[in-house]
Amino acid sequence: MAQWTSAVGAAQLARLLNSQQERPAGPGTRRPPAYRALADGIRLLVLEGRVPVAARLPAERELALSLSVSRTTVAAAYEALRAEGFLESRRGAGSWTAVPAGNPLPARGLEPLPPEALGSMIDLGCAALPAPEPWLTRAVQGALEELPPYAHTHGDYPAGLPALRSMLAERYTARGIPTMPEQIMVTTGAMGAMDAICHLFAGRGERIAVESPSYANILQLMREAGARLVPVAMAEGLAGWDMDRWRQVLRDAAPRLAYVVADFHNPTGALADEHQRRGLVDAARSAGTVLVVDETMSELHLDESLDMPRPVCGFDPAGSTVITVGSASKAFWAGMRIGWVRAAPDVIRSLVAARAYADLGTPVLEQLAVNWLLSAGGWEQAVEIRRGQARENRDALVAAVRRELPGWDFSVPKGGLTLWVRTGGLSGSRLAEVGERVGVRVPSGPRFGVDGAFEGYVRLPFTVGGAVAEEAAVRLAAAARLVETGANGGNEASRMFVA
Ligand SMILES: Cc1ncc(COP(=O)(O)O)c(C=O)c1O
Repeated sequence: MAQWTSAVGAAQLARLLNSQQERPAGPGTRRPPAYRALADGIRLLVLEGRVPVAARLPAERELALSLSVSRTTVAAAYEALRAEGFLESRRGAGSWTAVPAGNPLPARGLEPLPPEALGSMIDLGCAALPAPEPWLTRAVQGALEELPPYAHTHGDYPAGLPALRSMLAERYTARGIPTMPEQIMVTTGAMGAMDAICHLFAGRGERIAVESPSYANILQLMREAGARLVPVAMAEGLAGWDMDRWRQVLRDAAPRLAYVVADFHNPTGALADEHQRRGLVDAARSAGTVLVVDETMSELHLDESLDMPRPVCGFDPAGSTVITVGSASKAFWAGMRIGWVRAAPDVIRSLVAARAYADLGTPVLEQLAVNWLLSAGGWEQAVEIRRGQARENRDALVAAVRRELPGWDFSVPKGGLTLWVRTGGLSGSRLAEVGERVGVRVPSGPRFGVDGAFEGYVRLPFTVGGAVAEEAAVRLAAAARLVETGANGGNEASRMFVA
């Protein structure tokens, strides 16, 4: 069986290669031979995640034609990539991209540190803000007042409290997506929702198409469920979803699930437009793939002038293709651990049944608190506070990073909680390692990739502002200097991921 999970065509690869900025040759250095430049270009595309790992490359002859070079040049480039572990080939199956064993850090999720363990460390590891008080306190007080009737029951509500299911259904209906309470299940955060969905749909060996990059902990959850991840490269900057790529991957790999964060994607911050939303739903429907849309970041639109596009489930009124996941974690507070799923009633019934062997239900008090906020109008005010914090933090962080690290490159998103930063050729893994020693905790790019891509990136969240954001950038710049000069150990190859 072939080892590839997607394919990149000759014209597409030529376009990607031609869009790469030429790196200036240092004084006294000679231009590399054509095959070496081609091999380096492909290697960089793989490490930056613009060509996914396990993507079949075009045949030598086709690529030679598209690039107007000789077939010998392409053959030599492929040979060099094979020798370096960036390409694998099998007679009859073609050649597909790979990342050499041990390069760089193995992909894994993010591990939040307990606040007490941080000391003087600035924590940029976690994209979550403190509670928007006084609304947490008010919501818990409101919940306590509503608790007595529930105290007389056994308290297990595997589908969620009826009152909260109705409230969440009404909110979708108000957004133009008619929804019944039977279409809602309350979960323990969006993570709990994804865990239940993976459990039901994507057992061992099933394929799941994912954006590349994507949210680290959901990627890890899927890996641990035994799923095979099929990465679909996000377009540069905030352009997001390249519909040709999505159509091709869904058609070729026919994955069981596809997982997307269409609203302020984590980590890039991209927002899918209506065309991309419709395209994703159509492509998933044609491939027989269930499209899981994570709306965790939806309410965090930070620019006043922004008109939010229709929710993705609005393009699938019958609910046969799209499952939506929501959460109170980013809009309100992650400590609540309240999330939900919107799906067809039969899917909800199966998810609820499966839950009996997992967490059995979500705490009643927290559900009452979120329901109190949603029904008493506190939710909108709390989210407004949250948007204000995130906006201020984003602007402070952007200014500080531009000042301290002018060689780092990023696009400023219109919402969400994250800045996806290209580190000017420095290894993100080394920056993360050295950052811990100079007092700033930052996750490296490969955590958001499949199989070691994105070595040249870090993710910075909008969780600190003012003087702390400035100090964070100063510490990151100190870490960058140490990585650049190699003063903190590491060899040339591990400092700079581009040759
Ligand atoms: C896109 C996305 N989905 C899910 C989660 C986790 O959400 P929850 O805290 O509701 O489990 C996060 C947290 O950062 C996220 O960014």
